[in-house]
Amino acid sequence: MSDGPTYGFDTLQIHAGARPDPATGSRQTPIYQTTAYVFRDADHAAALFNLQEVGYIYSRLTNPTVAVLQERIATLEGGAGAVCCSSGHAAQIMALFPLMGPGCNVVASTRLYGGSVTQLSQTIKRFGWSATFVDTDDLDAVKAAIDENTRAVFCESIANPGGYVTDIRALADIADAAGLPLIVDNTSATPYLCRPIEHGATLVVHSTTKYLTGNGTVTGGCVVDSGTFDWSASDKFPSLSQPEPAYHGLKFHETFGPLAFTFHGIAIGLRDLGMTMNPQGAHYTLMGIETLSLRMQRHVENAERVAGWLEADDRVDYVTYAGLPSSPYAERVKAQYPKGAGALFTFAVKGGYDACVKLVNALEIFSHVANLGDARSLIIHSASTTHRQLTPEQQEAAGAGANVVRISIGIEDADDLIADLDQALSKATA
Ligand SMILES: Cc1ncc(COP(=O)(O)O)c(C=O)c1O
Repeated sequence: MSDGPTYGFDTLQIHAGARPDPATGSRQTPIYQTTAYVFRDADHAAALFNLQEVGYIYSRLTNPTVAVLQERIATLEGGAGAVCCSSGHAAQIMALFPLMGPGCNVVASTRLYGGSVTQLSQTIKRFGWSATFVDTDDLDAVKAAIDENTRAVFCESIANPGGYVTDIRALADIADAAGLPLIVDNTSATPYLCRPIEHGATLVVHSTTKYLTGNGTVTGGCVVDSGTFDWSASDKFPSLSQPEPAYHGLKFHETFGPLAFTFHGIAIGLRDLGMTMNPQGAHYTLMGIETLSLRMQRHVENAERVAGWLEADDRVDYVTYAGLPSSPYAERVKAQYPKGAGALFTFAVKGGYDACVKLVNALEIFSHVANLGDARSLIIHSASTTHRQLTPEQQEAAGAGANVVRISIGIEDADDLIADLDQALSKATA
């Protein structure tokens, strides 16, 4: 696409970042299945390695198919640049890597995907990093959790599993006042339902495994940079503002301005951590993204119907869907998620743990899997699976108690989904 008029979301999800292949005219983005790229001559090679010229060296760093996906996601999120990587979890490490160092901490929401809670509460300790968890609806607690060693605030827009919606603007204001970047995991909302950068986020991370691909075929991740954060305003982010020893003393912020974080992610993050997305994976995600808006509209429409039906059913204790008119988040949804509250939520089954287990066993259309954001409807009992490593208190805080199941509503016929839940609830609560 040319740098012409500003196109709408539906146009950009198909065209952004792509142009007919210069070698063949291929209309669809080719899968550049190659490890390395021939340099024109020795000077060209040196210029590429010095980051004086942008181009392709080796597919651990950059690949033309992956580059199209990066530009597409950056455009849809309204960011300056993006780096794709091998999974959503890889994206979270890639986002934190330039910011953190031994002794530094991230202030994170208690309402995160269970795997993210484990990654941030346990695994990052090996790097000498730590996380302080807070209820991000308690803004005073967020402010109080920030100390001189904090380097970022981290939340999910629509939180997995509860479907709670986060007040991104309020968190961005707190992070801003403290001179910190706000990182938003926008996996469950996608840029179709929410564009965190417009609400003040600095970085957006994605598990492209979910709705962006939309068909449950590949794992992938992405870090989008807004390009708006002043990394040189304090001495907190030396990897970006000071000479970087891992790239012969290059000052990323001074050299690349709004693209500093993106260049750092490629030149150091992918180069040294090696969490690269492969071109075949990028191809599947590019295919999925072409229909993102259409799928999300249907996901939301179905979720609203199913959640409304469940809420009215007396075999169900409560439904957490933020898109219900009865939700305490209804006003927030209108303000920051105007196209809907997504399609991921939990509900509590009367009969507790045993009833939940019977329910997942009895469903026929819903698949019992550890995934979300597929065209298919999915269900999981989080407490015995994705959130199993968490303490009961952490499970409760994350909205994944023993009596709740999480559902990811697909794009099938809503009537069929309701009928399936109806028959399975009868068996589960008989
Ligand atoms: C909200 C959220 N973020 C991140 C991840 C991690 O993504 P991946 O499985 O691609 O590593 C998940 C996985 O379920 C998720 O639900």
